[in-house]
Amino acid sequence: MTRYDFDQVIERRGTDSNKWQRYGDDVIPLWVADMDFISPDPIIRALHQRIDHGIFGYTRPTQELRIAILERFKRLYHWEIREEDIVFLPGLVTGLNLAYHAFSHPGDGVLVQPPVYFHFVHDPVMHGRVLDDPPLVQTGDTYEIDFDDFEKSITHRTRIFLFCNPHNPVGRVYSRGELEKIAEICIRRNVILCSDEIHCDLLFPKYQHIPIATLNPEVANQTVTLMAPSKTFNTAGLHCGFAIIQNLRLRKIWETFSHGLIPSVNILGHVAALAGYRDGKDWLDQVLLYLRANRDFLAQFLREKLPHIRMARMEATYLAWLDCRDAGILGNPSDFFLRRAKVALNDGSEFGKGGEGFVRLNFACPRKTLVEALDRMVEALKRL
Ligand SMILES: Cc1ncc(COP(=O)(O)O)c(C=O)c1O
Repeated sequence: MTRYDFDQVIERRGTDSNKWQRYGDDVIPLWVADMDFISPDPIIRALHQRIDHGIFGYTRPTQELRIAILERFKRLYHWEIREEDIVFLPGLVTGLNLAYHAFSHPGDGVLVQPPVYFHFVHDPVMHGRVLDDPPLVQTGDTYEIDFDDFEKSITHRTRIFLFCNPHNPVGRVYSRGELEKIAEICIRRNVILCSDEIHCDLLFPKYQHIPIATLNPEVANQTVTLMAPSKTFNTAGLHCGFAIIQNLRLRKIWETFSHGLIPSVNILGHVAALAGYRDGKDWLDQVLLYLRANRDFLAQFLREKLPHIRMARMEATYLAWLDCRDAGILGNPSDFFLRRAKVALNDGSEFGKGGEGFVRLNFACPRKTLVEALDRMVEALKRL
């Protein structure tokens, strides 16, 4: 078994990393959702092997990868799908946008639950859809769904619900009971479910991921599930994801919309996905332990040194959702931390209703980087 050393600080400047090169060299970037850790050895080995072949012509998704996904679903979720239910995608933002383009028209409603990953709230509006956006409700240190509000927000023009589970940025993993209520409402009101489950492998102990499509065949029939190995194994730059669409009619509409517009996944994306799903578990187990330790460290640090910043309870992901409204910062807290602490965080207001006064902090980095960023934030607040 390989022992991975996630404490190791690896220089990412000079590698065209979006995370590390958007801001100046003096800024610690804890924003966009990728990890400052190397990917699993089996992925790196498989990529080397493929590159050494030296021919990079047009490629197609391998049957081996479809079977690896099938087996994974059976093992993890007792979910039986067929090879043809899998439609590959170069990314899940593409998948989200494709979903509402395929299943709604300009002027139709797209249902979302803010605060939520900014593409959910911005992209449909850019493309002429109307946002139906019942916010999640903050209760204590976590967030809940107000089901009455959720249902009331569905109008005659609402066509599709873009659901995020696990939820970026509030860190929720929805329970079976919550999923059943959501599904029941969507089916009764004839709203298609598009469930983005990209963070499904990054769960903390005690929580279990349930793909909403596994609830029952009726739900499966009305759902597009989006998944990818990219958050799981830190391979976002390789652009490989997929949709599971068990309903043939929906899949045909999807494929018609994609035709000629959505490129196939590149060779290296397929290679990495297969290696990760087959042989990446050892790495994933270890990275989850490291992330959990970072989460607990962050929570403790905030309690002791930044008590006016409150962190939402994290059931999944490495993206902490921090409420800075009582920290005494005038104006936007992400601007404040960027200018005064040289730490780049995501601006909460980008995540729609309920995000103002919050920041999102990505702690998938060596502890040393996290400590340095937090110390800078403490110092900046002292100088207020
Ligand atoms: C919920 C969610 N969906 C999609 C993405 C991005 O997916 P991709 O890189 O495959 O486009 C992210 C990235 O942070 C995310 O959090």
